[in-house]
Amino acid sequence: MSLEKQIKSELKAKDAVLVAHYYVSPELQSLAEETGGIVSDSLEMARFGHNSDAKTIIVAGVKFMGETAKILSPEKNIHVLDMGATCSLDDGCNIDEFDKFCDQHPNRKVVVYANTSAQVKARADWMVTSGSAVKVIKHLHNSGEQILWAPDKHLGGYVKSQSDVDMILWDGACVVHEQFKAEALIELKKHHPDAAILVHPESPKEVISLADYVGSTTGLIEAAKNRNEEKFIVATDNGIFHKMQQAAPGKKLIEAPTMGEGADCESCAHCQWMAMNSLDKCLSVLRNGDNEIFIDTDTSKKARKSIQKLLEFTA
Ligand code: 13P
Ligand code: SF4
Repeated sequence: MSLEKQIKSELKAKDAVLVAHYYVSPELQSLAEETGGIVSDSLEMARFGHNSDAKTIIVAGVKFMGETAKILSPEKNIHVLDMGATCSLDDGCNIDEFDKFCDQHPNRKVVVYANTSAQVKARADWMVTSGSAVKVIKHLHNSGEQILWAPDKHLGGYVKSQSDVDMILWDGACVVHEQFKAEALIELKKHHPDAAILVHPESPKEVISLADYVGSTTGLIEAAKNRNEEKFIVATDNGIFHKMQQAAPGKKLIEAPTMGEGADCESCAHCQWMAMNSLDKCLSVLRNGDNEIFIDTDTSKKARKSIQKLLEFTA
């Protein structure tokens, strides 16, 4: 029996659902869709897991996505495919340092990106995702709040530029998006003047400033589908091309450059942690119950408040 068929039968037997991010392999994405799960951005992954009736949720993505699912559904069994699949933003925002940062600015609303640990979310007032950050910050700004933002300085800088809000930023970055190069992108655009540039807001501001559209992974896919251009240069993890091409058949999709002045192309537009997800691991997790996420009750309760605010705000 093929791996896919074995996984399908295990999912049924275990009353489990597979929730996948756009950056994991096309095989895992297809399997999630074919078995009643979902492929989506981190906001919808969280919402879907929360609303699902399944007893067990298998998260094909990175660890913070599994933790978010567990925080929202403590009664469910949540598993990730690899416990080592982390995120440079999460890794770069250690709770002890973050606590000190927050203590230095007690009057600011603490807003953190989804790409953080459960402990960091527990310390926050709000959690946001790339698809919701601008709206939430504008809302807080209109309520007279000053903001402490963590951990992605590029997304934070973008949000700040859109909202005029008083915001101080933690110094973190995504190692994948940080490697997109503005100079090389300008050169590439010269060869494709008819292409629209689509950029994820974890990219550096010089790259964002060249964008025709800036948005979350779901937003970028929708833009490729709905915009009139037939060609797109895309600055995000290249795992997105699978769904984007399905959503915009016949349109030409080009990877934004990660080479150029000072480039070492460490990631080459693909997240090393998303790449740790595989069909083999999915089957093993289902069969052996590996990699279950556990979060202590106090942390979970506090973190849930900051996530719930977002779910209610975006409902
Ligand atoms: P999205 O919420 O846009 O899917 O982003 C998650 C992520 O990790 C992007 O690098
Ligand atoms: Fe984290 Fe970047 Fe990987 Fe997304 S692409 S999971 S932000 S390291």
